[in-house]
Amino acid sequence: MSQARALEHGEEYLVDAGDQILEMEELFDNDAAITLEIGFGVGQALLEMAECNPEKNYLGIEVYLPGIGALIHQCQLRAIKNIRVIRGDAKYVLANNCRPDSFTQINIFFPDPWPKRKHLKRRIIQQDMVRLIAQRLKPGGRVYLATDWENYADWMLQEFCQEPALKNMSVNKGFSERFKERPMTRFESRGIRLGHEVWDLCFEK
Ligand SMILES: C[S@@+](CC[C@H](N)C(=O)[O-])C[C@H]1O[C@@H](n2cnc3c(N)ncnc32)[C@H](O)[C@@H]1O
Repeated sequence: MSQARALEHGEEYLVDAGDQILEMEELFDNDAAITLEIGFGVGQALLEMAECNPEKNYLGIEVYLPGIGALIHQCQLRAIKNIRVIRGDAKYVLANNCRPDSFTQINIFFPDPWPKRKHLKRRIIQQDMVRLIAQRLKPGGRVYLATDWENYADWMLQEFCQEPALKNMSVNKGFSERFKERPMTRFESRGIRLGHEVWDLCFEK
């Protein structure tokens, strides 16, 4: 109920992007660096990062309405100033609403793994999405990813290594150390309870 109410009165946080190019400085009322999180779920990571770094801006894109409501509810309770949320498909939003060189960081934590062979094309990480991510990052910007599905970890590594604009920041050019700033989310703790390992990746433009 509180989530539904948060959505109704969430105009301070919820951005109706439509088909227009977003002016990020107007969105946040300042020109601070912006971290984008794609598929934030209920927003645990986004909230924690935004609270720890009030001098930075955080944009979240999510399709799951109850998750958006939950995040906005928390933003209202904690009077968060540096988060904005877009409801929609991240690929569409990146392609149609965001200019090149918009973000200093893009986070994709525990994307849906779509483990069945016939569903692999539904994975959000595909070559065209990797290209878009590279284009929307500022020079020197980084994309951080994490998954607890080994097959998706290998898939992401392969897809990102094929993008010439991005450099793998892992010392051995494979997986990276756990990203220090990455908070534990409900998906990660569930995976750990089930005995899953976690793989982190980091690429720089
Ligand atoms: C497995 S959950 C992980 C949520 C969160 N990152 C976490 O670690 O708890 C994946 C999330 O990605 C969202 N998602 C899937 N496809 C998306 C898309 N095309 N654009 C935006 N969000 C998407 C889903 O709605 C879901 O909330």
